Amino acid sequence: MSGTASEQASAAARKTAEGLSYSSGFGNEHSSEAVPGALPTGRNSPQRAPLGLYAEQLSGTAFTEPRAHNRRSWLYRIRPSAAHPPFVRTDNGGLRSAPFTEVPDPNRLRWSPLPEPAEGTDFVAGLWTVGGNGDVAQRAGMAVHLYSANASMEDRVFSDADGELLIVPERGGLLLRTEFGLLHAEPGHIALIPRGVRFRVELLDASARGYVCENYGQPFVLPDLGPIGANGLANARDFLAPTAAYEDRETPVEVINKFCGNLWRATYDHSPLDVVAWHGNHLPYVYDLRRFNVLGSISYDHPDPSIFTVLTSPSDTPGLAGVDFVVFAPRWLVGENTFRPPYFHRNVMSEYMGLIEGAYDAKAEGFVPGGGSLHNMMSAHGPDRETFERASAAELKPQKIDDGLAFMFETRWPVAATAQAMEADHLQGGYDDVWQGLERHFSS
Ligand SMILES: [Fe+2]
Repeated sequence: MSGTASEQASAAARKTAEGLSYSSGFGNEHSSEAVPGALPTGRNSPQRAPLGLYAEQLSGTAFTEPRAHNRRSWLYRIRPSAAHPPFVRTDNGGLRSAPFTEVPDPNRLRWSPLPEPAEGTDFVAGLWTVGGNGDVAQRAGMAVHLYSANASMEDRVFSDADGELLIVPERGGLLLRTEFGLLHAEPGHIALIPRGVRFRVELLDASARGYVCENYGQPFVLPDLGPIGANGLANARDFLAPTAAYEDRETPVEVINKFCGNLWRATYDHSPLDVVAWHGNHLPYVYDLRRFNVLGSISYDHPDPSIFTVLTSPSDTPGLAGVDFVVFAPRWLVGENTFRPPYFHRNVMSEYMGLIEGAYDAKAEGFVPGGGSLHNMMSAHGPDRETFERASAAELKPQKIDDGLAFMFETRWPVAATAQAMEADHLQGGYDDVWQGLERHFSS
């Protein structure tokens, strides 16, 4: 094998990633054992767990939440998670958390991609917060982060007590080594790491970049389908849960724990990715966004973008999401006598949009992969002038949009952009100008 040590490590990680096997299905009770006989049968906590393992429950919801919402897993591990030294505060880097003290800004904001990070920046060190809402201690709200990394996490793992992490790679493949096993995520996929699950990110390419929605609220679920029926949008079977895989390493491993907005660090004398078997439904997943079954109008008008919801974090109010994850995937547009791009609108929900590849059909330029836009509660937005003029004059034959993959984190509360995001060089000036020059056509 040729190349530098990190190129060789990436190549080895890619080989591992491409050979993984999974269990299919979202929210299921899954089980997996890396060693035959490691899972107890008929009970969760036998007097002595098989193979000398420790039994441990990881609860993602309160014990007493309704069965349909209840999330928990049982892990059978070499050492219990309780065996660790004290955590001490460590530098938060570019990571910020709710409650955000910045004043939410009603202006429409747009950013170019993050600048390249310093050499040796791994996934955790490369996290950089754009903004968010809610309160981690209330387990409500969300944060938008970007990540930009050029090194694998080595001898350290991360876990987030504050929320679930929805990772949206935009550049570079990832191998996620989690307590439950390994996941492979490429640009165009998403990875979902539940609250509290420890994981390490290895890069499959020279660098990696993308977006993270940190969901402080209720765990993401598939949206109800109502009159759509029993199938469609993101199909449950396309979510892939890992197969048990464990590390038996008695060497120092740094564990970074995000807790109530801050990073805490402890050096274990072993790897905590030491789960030999597990069962349950509080699980990490990967999902290929290209599997999304895009539904839309076959008569007229552009449906509301909720039709593109992949996952939703419900709130206490039916239909009102803490955050929705929405994807604008390749699709046919066939509406008759219809303005086909997303319409002009003002929304009570707040919208952060990112672009995974290609272009987005409401913006001719300026919205690029790795960048993002924030349209806060009631801020007026929609197609730019060039898109409006083109779409208003377009011949309405069936049209395939197949050159882009955009997404939205849509949340119930305004998103306060962080001071670092408002002061960043990559905050674009003059974003309002894209709606300038929309000509007056009315004449009284
Ligand atoms: Fe919008």
